[in-house]
Amino acid sequence: MELTEKILHYLEKSGKADTLTLATEFNEDHQKVVGAVKSLEALEMVVSEATKSTRWELTGEGQLVSDKGSHEAVLYNSIPENGMPQAEVMKTVPNAKVGFSKAMSAGWIFIDKSGGAPLVKRKVESITDTVQDHLNEIKKGIDNIPDNVRNDYKKRKLLQEVTVKSFLLSKGPQFATTIKKLETDLTSEMLLTGAWKTLQFKPYNFDALGQPPECGHLHPLLKVRSEFREIFLELGFTEMPTNQYIESSFWNFDALFQPQQHPARDAHDTFFMSSPNATKDFPMDYLERVKKVHSKGGYGSQGYRYDWKIEEAQKNLLRTHTTAVSARMLYKLAQQKEFVPQKYFSIDKVFRNETLDATHLAEFHQVEGVIANRGLGLADLISVLDAFFKRLGFDKLQFKPAYNPYTEPSMEIFAFHNGLDKWIEIGNSGVFRPEMLLPMGLPEDVNVIAWGLSLERPTMIKYGLNNIRDLVGPKVDLQMVQSNPICRLDK
Ligand code: PHE
Repeated sequence: MELTEKILHYLEKSGKADTLTLATEFNEDHQKVVGAVKSLEALEMVVSEATKSTRWELTGEGQLVSDKGSHEAVLYNSIPENGMPQAEVMKTVPNAKVGFSKAMSAGWIFIDKSGGAPLVKRKVESITDTVQDHLNEIKKGIDNIPDNVRNDYKKRKLLQEVTVKSFLLSKGPQFATTIKKLETDLTSEMLLTGAWKTLQFKPYNFDALGQPPECGHLHPLLKVRSEFREIFLELGFTEMPTNQYIESSFWNFDALFQPQQHPARDAHDTFFMSSPNATKDFPMDYLERVKKVHSKGGYGSQGYRYDWKIEEAQKNLLRTHTTAVSARMLYKLAQQKEFVPQKYFSIDKVFRNETLDATHLAEFHQVEGVIANRGLGLADLISVLDAFFKRLGFDKLQFKPAYNPYTEPSMEIFAFHNGLDKWIEIGNSGVFRPEMLLPMGLPEDVNVIAWGLSLERPTMIKYGLNNIRDLVGPKVDLQMVQSNPICRLDK
C-alpha cells in the first residue's frame, strides 16, 4: 500500500493522528510522512495543523556511550583482576578522566597504594551500566528517566533537547480511503469530447516552494551597490559616467585645487601609468585658470604661490577617487548657457597604492554624492547627509572637522552602528571651494556640496565579514556569494 493510503486508512480508524506517531507506526522517515500528508492536503482529503513538541536525543558522545558503554563502564571493564597502574589507566583507556571519577564515585573501583605506585583495582564483582541502558531506551523513544538523572546526562553532554515540528491530522472534506486520480492537465482531447465538464482537476498548490532557479548570483558588493543606487535614484540623483579608471592628474588633482606637492600625488600613494604616461588634451582656457589659481591665486584667494607645471598635470594615473569624475561633470555643467541645479551620484572603483591589510586593498569602490545649487551651505550638507544616511539605517550621525584640499569646510562623518554598538567613521564630505568651482565657470552664487564613502565598509558590516579577503580575491567563498540575501540596508 502507498504511504498516502496507509495514512488514510489510519485516519479512517482513529479519526485523528500525529505525523510523528505515524512515522513510528509505519517505520518511515518523518519528512516522508509529512510529504505524503501535503499531497493529501492538496486533495482536501485531510486537514493538518502544525504543532511543536520537544524530544530528547542522543548527542554524538551519547551515541558512543549507547554503542560502547558509559566511560565509567568502559574503564571498569578494562581493569584486569590484579589491577592496573593508575598512570597506565589514564593513558590507555578512552575518556579515562570522566570514566575514572564516575567509576570512583559509583564505588566500582578503588586505588591501592600498598605497593608504592597507585594501582586501580575493581571494588565490585560486576556492574550494571545504567547510563548505557537509559540512553538505549531514549533511542527507542522510551523515556522513564527521572528528571534529575536526565539533567545530569544533559550536563555530561550525552543528551540534548530538540524541538520537532509535526502535524496533527484529521479528515478533510474530500476524505476517502482511496485516492481518486485527479487530472493535472487540460488536454485538447478533453475539450473536443467535452470530458472536461465532468472530470476533476487537481487544484493548484500556491504554497509549493518553486525550484531554485539555476542562475548567476550577485556578489555582495553588487547587491549593496544596487541598494545605494536605488536610494540615490529615489532621491532624484543622476548617475555620473564612471567608466574610465585612468585619469590625468589634472582632473584627479589639479582641478580639485590639490597642489602639485601634495603628498597624495606621490608614487607611494598613487599608481601612475607608465604607458600611456601622459594626457595632452585639456580645455586649455580652463587649464590656464587652474594654473593661475594654484600659482597666483584669484577669486579672492591667494592660491598656493608655487610654480605650477603642466607636465605634472599631464601624468596619467589610476583615479584615486571618484571626485575626479565629479570635477569633470561640474566643469561640463559650468559650460552650459544657463545654470540648472543638479544632483549627481556615482559608485565605482578607485585605486590607491596602500599597504594591504585586513581592511585595505589597493582598489575599492567609492560612493559619491554631489549637489550643485544656488546658496547651498554647511546646513544643507548636514541635512542632506542626515536624510541620506537615514535611508541606510543610520539614524545617529556625528561630524568632525576635517581637511580636504577641495572642500571648505570639510567634515568626517561618523554614524552609530546599532549592531556593533559603537560609532564608526563612514564617510567624508564638504562644500567645494571657490578655487575649484569658479575657474570652471560656475556662477559665483552656485555652491556645491558633496560626500563620499566606501562601498566595502557598509558591505562588510552588512554581511558580517571581518576580512576584506573574504569579500574580494581568490579566497571568496562562492557559497557565501550564492546564499547571502539581497541587501536591504535599513533592515
Ligand atoms: N574624495 C574624498 C575621498 O576620497 C571623498 C569626498 C568626496 C570628500 C566629496 C568630500 C567631498 O575620501
